Amino acid sequence: MYNCAVILAAGEGKRMKSSIPKVLHKVCGREMVNIVIDSAKKAQIEDIDVVIGKGAEQVKEATKSRDVTYSLQDGQLGTGHAVLCAGDFLKGKEGTVVIFTGDSPLIEEDAIKNMLNFHNKGKYKATVLTAEVDDPTGYGRIVRKKNGEVLKIVEHKDCSAEELKINEINSGMYCFDIESLVENLDKLHNNNVQGEYYLTDVIEILKNKGERIGALPVNFEEVMGVNSRLQLSKAERVMRNRVNNMHMKNGITIIDPNTTYIGLNVKIGRDTTIYPGNVIEGNTVIGENCVLYPNSRIKDSTIDDNVIVQSSVILSSSVGKNVTVGPFAYIRPESVIGRSVKIGDFVEIKKSTIGDRTKVAHLTYIGDAEVGSGCNFGCGTVVVNYDGKVKNKTLVGNNSFIGCNTNLVSPVKVNDNTYIAAGSTITDEVPEGSLAIARARQVNKEGWVYKKGLGK
Ligand code: UD1
Ligand code: CA
Repeated sequence: MYNCAVILAAGEGKRMKSSIPKVLHKVCGREMVNIVIDSAKKAQIEDIDVVIGKGAEQVKEATKSRDVTYSLQDGQLGTGHAVLCAGDFLKGKEGTVVIFTGDSPLIEEDAIKNMLNFHNKGKYKATVLTAEVDDPTGYGRIVRKKNGEVLKIVEHKDCSAEELKINEINSGMYCFDIESLVENLDKLHNNNVQGEYYLTDVIEILKNKGERIGALPVNFEEVMGVNSRLQLSKAERVMRNRVNNMHMKNGITIIDPNTTYIGLNVKIGRDTTIYPGNVIEGNTVIGENCVLYPNSRIKDSTIDDNVIVQSSVILSSSVGKNVTVGPFAYIRPESVIGRSVKIGDFVEIKKSTIGDRTKVAHLTYIGDAEVGSGCNFGCGTVVVNYDGKVKNKTLVGNNSFIGCNTNLVSPVKVNDNTYIAAGSTITDEVPEGSLAIARARQVNKEGWVYKKGLGK
């Protein structure tokens, strides 16, 4: 049976108090609307239309990688009006449309598939996904007859005192027979407290026509809506638990899942251990047997096997096998760290390549440089890559020993097998096999202290 989906994402989200459209707020690093699109696709719904309105261009831009179509809702007159705006998308289609709201990101593949099965098997014209919840405040309530049949959905603001006591809520997700939905959308009115055209009223209209209405209760965690920052944080917690549970199932040790923040796109190899306070974001891949000690942020980076990181920031870079990073290192975008490298404390690497087995142990800045293998950077080395106008390149060959407190004034080249004396300011090429000393000779003025009367 043909199916498709319409995702309602035109609302502003006033309760978020935000300048970005609500559905673009992120849960575990991914925009809510994209999470919904991805779940629908996982449930084998290919044909997806997103209703946009408030911040339409932003929503389009944020979803452009997802292969969906768009309908524009000019003026947010309610969820029923929003679906009406997808009329061109639904026109002429036969089968089932699944309606999602872009602000309910916790819905999963299985729940969607179950809803579709339930709807098709029961031959319903409409099926609403519901949940029982202790505090139903803000949600539409499911009003059932004594025999359990669904009569209608009443919005919180329109509820009578009796209806407010109902704990079964409307998730805002439904399956509809496309033709039955389309032919009743223009029968909606906005004669309610919010003055909106409610999609939920289609249920009552169909019921009054004697059509079969299904209701499928699921776990509240699947359908939680996000209308406020508080609810956003609750959704984040649920999603974070799911992500962390998945990694633990795959053989990763997470010491404290409550304080470990792993994005939805992150991949992690077996036997890696993650200590509290780590934030792993974007398209990051972490290898096997790594140890992430507390308090690092790793974003859009590839970390190979057996890497140890502690209290550091790694952005858009790659780190080879057996490397140690930190504590307190900062690896900035476009850096490539080879194998068995040591990046120690208070080291900053920016847009640089560091060859295998090179040690940059402490208090060093390396920017716009290509560094070979087997080098040793003494404490306090600075690559002087910026002359006030442009960033220049520095080349350091293999097996170079850079003495402490050296400045490498770019552009400059240090060839293979070289030594640089501590405290040198290198401005000229250092030839292969040589020692470079670039500092003033020491002068001792004997007896100077006493002559000045400063002796004690
Ligand atoms: C809606 C349901 C409510 C349900 C709840 C579940 C209605 C009338 N109410 O209420 O029964 O319990 O979701 O979370 O449907 N939107 C548009 N255009 C509009 C209005 C809304 O695209 O004109 C979109 C919003 O961007 C949002 C979604 O529809 O993604 C839901 O809108 P929202 O205003 O959050 O509805 P709720 O009050 O939460
Ligand atoms: Ca909502």
